[in-house]
Amino acid sequence: MTRSTTACAHPNIALIKYWGKSNSDLNLPSTPSLSITLSKLTTRTTISTSEIDVLYINGQSVQDEKISQFLNSLRQTHSVKNIRIETENNFPTSAGLASSAAGFAALTMALNTHFSLGFSKRKISSIARTGSASAARSIHGGFVGLQGPDWEAEPIVKPDYWPLRIVIATVNIEKKKTGSSKGMEITRFTSPFYQSWVNEAQKDFDEALTAIKNRDFDKLADLSEKNCLKMIATMISSDPPLIYWAPATLACIQLIRELRNSGQAVFFTTDAGPQVKAICLPESEAKVIEALASVVGSKNITSCEIGDEAEIIQN
Ligand code: PMV
Repeated sequence: MTRSTTACAHPNIALIKYWGKSNSDLNLPSTPSLSITLSKLTTRTTISTSEIDVLYINGQSVQDEKISQFLNSLRQTHSVKNIRIETENNFPTSAGLASSAAGFAALTMALNTHFSLGFSKRKISSIARTGSASAARSIHGGFVGLQGPDWEAEPIVKPDYWPLRIVIATVNIEKKKTGSSKGMEITRFTSPFYQSWVNEAQKDFDEALTAIKNRDFDKLADLSEKNCLKMIATMISSDPPLIYWAPATLACIQLIRELRNSGQAVFFTTDAGPQVKAICLPESEAKVIEALASVVGSKNITSCEIGDEAEIIQN
């Protein structure tokens, strides 16, 4: 029987965003980022040695240039044979729900164990980053930071330090037309706001770190929303414009703002897609779910806690 290794990883949601690369060959971000890893949403990746590289996502055979490049670059320095990769996501793929983060995190974990590469968690994070920078963060659980000069993600605090809830309103699950790597390069070279975005990023990161350590919800809410909107402003001011939001995205955001004004502890964030992620204290969760369900329907709401690190579940 062929030996196989299975790893499991969770997507993460950035509260302080990475958007833009300082070096696209090495996949080095131009901004530090800070995220929370999600529970419940899960990617399981099983690898086994095979004659040629093949990839199946949710049972469908897929060609993925990013994964081929990732494997080729790893093979330049490490002994990694051809593999069969089978990935199962229990959430929509390539729709702004960080499937690539969880995917590269699970794949790197599985490769490390399967081929006995002996990498530390920090090294696994930096290898995963070469596939998708946000994947570096999905190696760890809880609150996670990713910053230079090493660009290896580091855990900040564990999930139970501050048990926030994340309510995701899935607005639509169509695959995005412009992937994040291409979108970032368009933004970097064409948005008139790009440099200001990069210049302010470290300050946003440092202040968010302090807000998390102090469990200061209002401060984190304010910083995260503004950081998200600055990223969105660079996207929509690009040429061609990158408009990932849909009308329902804005409808959800307005409801979240109204809830906060009425005293609920909740704030929003969005990524390279139309989905809205509402971060809230547990006591506000029911009200947030009810409000967002009025826009997208209750079957399109997923509520999670903060999740754990990536792990090997079978070898
Ligand atoms: O790592 P990528 O290429 O999937 O890019 C992630 C970009 C955002 O999700 C928009 C922001 C972030 O930091 O996760």
